[in-house]
Amino acid sequence: VEKIMNTAVPGVYRNYFRQRKGKQWQKVEAKVGEPGAIRPFLAGNWKMHTTPRSGIALVSRILDECRGMTDVDVGFAPPFLGLAAVRDYLEADFLRSEYGIAGNVHLYAQDAFYLPQGAYTGEVSAAMLKAAGVEGVILGHSDRRTRLGNNLGFATNVARRLSRGFLEQKWQRIRNQESVDPRVRKALEFLVAESNDEFRSGLAQFLEEEIRGRAGESDGVIQKKVCSVLEQGMRVLLCVGEDREARDHQETFRLLDHQLRMALDGLPAATVREIVIAYEPVWAIGPGAQPAQPEQIAEAHDFIRDWIAERHGEETAAAMRILYGGNVSPNNVVEIMRIAGVDGALVGGASVRPHDFAAILHFGLANVAR
Ligand code: PGA
Repeated sequence: VEKIMNTAVPGVYRNYFRQRKGKQWQKVEAKVGEPGAIRPFLAGNWKMHTTPRSGIALVSRILDECRGMTDVDVGFAPPFLGLAAVRDYLEADFLRSEYGIAGNVHLYAQDAFYLPQGAYTGEVSAAMLKAAGVEGVILGHSDRRTRLGNNLGFATNVARRLSRGFLEQKWQRIRNQESVDPRVRKALEFLVAESNDEFRSGLAQFLEEEIRGRAGESDGVIQKKVCSVLEQGMRVLLCVGEDREARDHQETFRLLDHQLRMALDGLPAATVREIVIAYEPVWAIGPGAQPAQPEQIAEAHDFIRDWIAERHGEETAAAMRILYGGNVSPNNVVEIMRIAGVDGALVGGASVRPHDFAAILHFGLANVAR
């Protein structure tokens, strides 16, 4: 096994303190493990990849390239099905000494339902995850905010209601009902009278596309999930971030403000401080997308940290870990970690490629032992 070369790059620290000088947040280098120093957090969101067995193989290959690495926090977020297997694997004593794993390797789930139990076929609660040895939960991921969650298929169902047959039936039923909003009656009358089928199917398609892009988890559901995970004493990794449309319309900060308010309002500073926030611009996520530029990342991170400082004080804001996510790779992790507001990364695609994720854990600086 080759020796790991630790080439220092100016401004990139394994551990650091954070200060505010005027309006600027700054990182100040700390000795590894110095009391109060910030330890970066690099988490792999495996999404819907890996089986329990391949998940174990993935973890073992990563740890093999990161022996004795205890100066950063590492998160693995396998699919629900793989959680128990990865937990058992990480807990094995002989492995812990073999790889030098300490308390810095953490098991995360990718979602949790907001009620503890009940008639919710297919859902998994925070209480169940806690019992299964999970330490934290990713919440508010854009995959779930926009495309998944409880409303999959909802858009298509709504759009189908715009067929002539359905509209006519509905119109007959409600045309004389006083209780129905007159504007609704008028709109239905108009749509039934409209003989142009192309207009109706065009409208249906438009609505379907509009709703599909927004039919995932709402801010309200995410807020309930945050509370349910905190109630179990588990960590929250909260994702926020704007989509392409919001960025193009200069609405990034307004949207971030809204998402943060919805998820965090009412929580005391001591709780907020323990939450990890991931800034994940939706347009920078996934295969084929370009990662955000360092200036865009810096600006969004400063906005989020200032937002926390305003509500919970500068000390809380300085201590909080805010990650970046969206096409993080061994090639760009150094410039991302150099940004004063960035405390780590939430990694998707590269997190299921063991050599890439190991290189990211080394901040891409080292000749990673192979
Ligand atoms: P990506 O995903 O690294 O594949 O862009 C990041 C994420 O979705 O958390």
